[in-house]
Amino acid sequence: MAPMRHDDMDSAGSCYEAVALKYAAKQDTQPWNVHYERPGTLSLLPALDGVHVFDAGCGPGWYVEYLLDQGATVTAIDLNADFVSMTKERVGERATVQQADLAEPLVLLGDASTDLVVAPLVMHYLKDWLPPLQEFQRVLKPGGLLVFSTHHPFMDFTEYEFDDYFGIQYIVDEWEIGTMTYYRRPLTKISEDLEAAGFVIERLLEPLPTDAFRDVHPRGYEKLSKNPWFLFIRARKS
Ligand SMILES: C[S@@+](CC[C@H](N)C(=O)[O-])C[C@H]1O[C@@H](n2cnc3c(N)ncnc32)[C@H](O)[C@@H]1O
Repeated sequence: MAPMRHDDMDSAGSCYEAVALKYAAKQDTQPWNVHYERPGTLSLLPALDGVHVFDAGCGPGWYVEYLLDQGATVTAIDLNADFVSMTKERVGERATVQQADLAEPLVLLGDASTDLVVAPLVMHYLKDWLPPLQEFQRVLKPGGLLVFSTHHPFMDFTEYEFDDYFGIQYIVDEWEIGTMTYYRRPLTKISEDLEAAGFVIERLLEPLPTDAFRDVHPRGYEKLSKNPWFLFIRARKS
């Protein structure tokens, strides 16, 4: 069944208010995260020792812990208060973690204060990408990197049976854990917003699932072997 679609809804990310605990309980065993998203994002990261990383939309904090363990200093935010608490519990005083909305200015970070911004599986909760991308640009040092993963525009277009690839659409979907909301946008819009914010795309990945994915979820592996699911981009501040 195709999900409901609306044209003009904000705060898609607030859907996590109802499902944060359930999401966190599953995330570290979900093959889509463990054997697909994380290998893709990690393959785009630079050397992390001694760099300052901003984790934009940290969720329960897996990336914050990983980045710290590689020797980075980390500042992280999330819209969801439960995820902020979970991340603080996970890493204690080792990182600065605050509740904040990526749709608003990043008041906790100064200009050119950051080497790397990571935003795994976050951007599709934002209706307008330009303001957060401009903030990423502001807080990055010259030549700094932005690495993010997001729903692949082709995946959302085909899975939800849209008739207009070139529009930006609001999606209401039913996951096992509850009702989720996000936006899809065409690849051109992603590229245009990155350019308008002053980024140059360095790498774009449409990875295949890992062998470990096949071992734990053969059907999912088969699907992802033939259909792009997430899109991964590394962009550099120009
Ligand atoms: C799929 S989870 C990914 C979490 C984490 N990046 C990871 O990969 O483990 C999406 C996250 O984006 C956060 N989020 C959604 N909209 C946001 C916004 N406007 N500002 C900050 N965080 C947001 C959600 O609260 C949630 O933690």
